[in-house]
Amino acid sequence: LKWQSPVESAKMYFEKFPEERIPLWTNPCSDPRHQAILPPSMSCSKKSLPDLLIIGPQKTGSTALASFLTLHPNVSQNMEIPGSFEEIQFFSGQNYLKGVEWYMSKFPNETTVIFEKSATYFDNPSAARQAAAMVPHAKLVIILQNPTQRAYSWFQHLIAHKDPIAMSSESLDVILNSTSSESAKFKIRQRCLSGGRYVHHLDKWLEHFSLQQIHFIDSDELRKEPAKVLSSLSKWLDLPEFPFETHIRFSPSKGFHCRLINGKTECLGESKGRKYSEMSQELRQKLDGIFALDNSALFKFLRKNRLKIPDWLEEAVRIRV
Ligand code: A3P
Repeated sequence: LKWQSPVESAKMYFEKFPEERIPLWTNPCSDPRHQAILPPSMSCSKKSLPDLLIIGPQKTGSTALASFLTLHPNVSQNMEIPGSFEEIQFFSGQNYLKGVEWYMSKFPNETTVIFEKSATYFDNPSAARQAAAMVPHAKLVIILQNPTQRAYSWFQHLIAHKDPIAMSSESLDVILNSTSSESAKFKIRQRCLSGGRYVHHLDKWLEHFSLQQIHFIDSDELRKEPAKVLSSLSKWLDLPEFPFETHIRFSPSKGFHCRLINGKTECLGESKGRKYSEMSQELRQKLDGIFALDNSALFKFLRKNRLKIPDWLEEAVRIRV
C-alpha cells in the first residue's frame, strides 16, 4: 500500500477508468439527499428542467418547429444562451461540464411545458445516455427529413460559412468521393451523412427512452403544413388546443411559413431557408444510394411500430425495390 497525494490518486484513478472522466449528471431534485445539499440559488420547489427535448437532427427544420411551438401560450423555451446559436447543447458537448446548476438556470420557473431544442443531440453518441440520466421522463421530438436533402443542406451550410474545405471541393460530389478517413474532406462527408442515418442513432435513444416518449415529425409536412404539425404535437403534449393556423403565415418572399406576431410576419433569419441551386440528378442518385440501407431500415422500423411513413421515405424505398 502506498500513499499518494489526492491529485496523483485522481490521475491514477482516471487512467484506470477513463470513461468516468466526464461525470453523469442526474436530476438533484429526484434524490432527497442531493436536494438537502443544493445551494440556495437552486430550488426544487418549482420545475426547472425541460419536459420536452427537440433533438434534431440538424437541417431538418428544427428551428422553425421550435419557433412555432413557442406561439402556444402554455409553452416556454429555454432562455437565450449567448454565443450558442440559440441552442443549449448541454447533452452533447462542452456545456455539459458546466454542470447541473448551469443547465437548470437556463429554464424559466413556470408550470407550463418547458422545452429545449438542440439539434446536435440526435446523432451524438453520448447525448441519449446523458439526457436519460438527467430528464428520464422527458418527451422527445425527432424530425424525419429525407437524408439526401439534409446532406445537401448541410453542405450548403458549410459553403455559406465559407468552410475552406467545402469551398475548395466545388461540390458535395467531390466530398462524397473522399475515402481516406483521416482527411478533412472525409470529416465533412461524415458530418453531411451522419444525421441522416436515422435507425442507427434511434437505436441509441431507444436504449434509454421508450418509444412512447418519442414523437416523429415529417420535415416535408412541417414545411408545407406547419399548423397541422404543431396541432398534432401539442395534442401529443396534452396541451390545450391552440389555433396555430391563425398565427402562422406563408411568406412568398421568404418561401417558407413564418410567425405572425401582432399582425406582422416574423420569419427566421437568412441562415434558415437559404436560397441555393437544386442538387443535380446525379448527386441525388448518389446520395440516395448511400442512404438506401438506412432508409430501408427506417421504413421497416416505422412500419413495424405502426408509425406514419413520410411520402419521401415511401418513394425512396419504392424506387429501390
Ligand atoms: P435550408 O436553409 O437548407 O433550406 P434547422 O433549423 O434544423 O437547421 O433546419 C434548417 C432548414 O429548415 C432549412 O434548410 C429549411 O429548409 C427548413 N425549414 C423548414 N421550415 C422552415 C421555415 N418555416 N423557415 C425557414 N426554414 C425552414
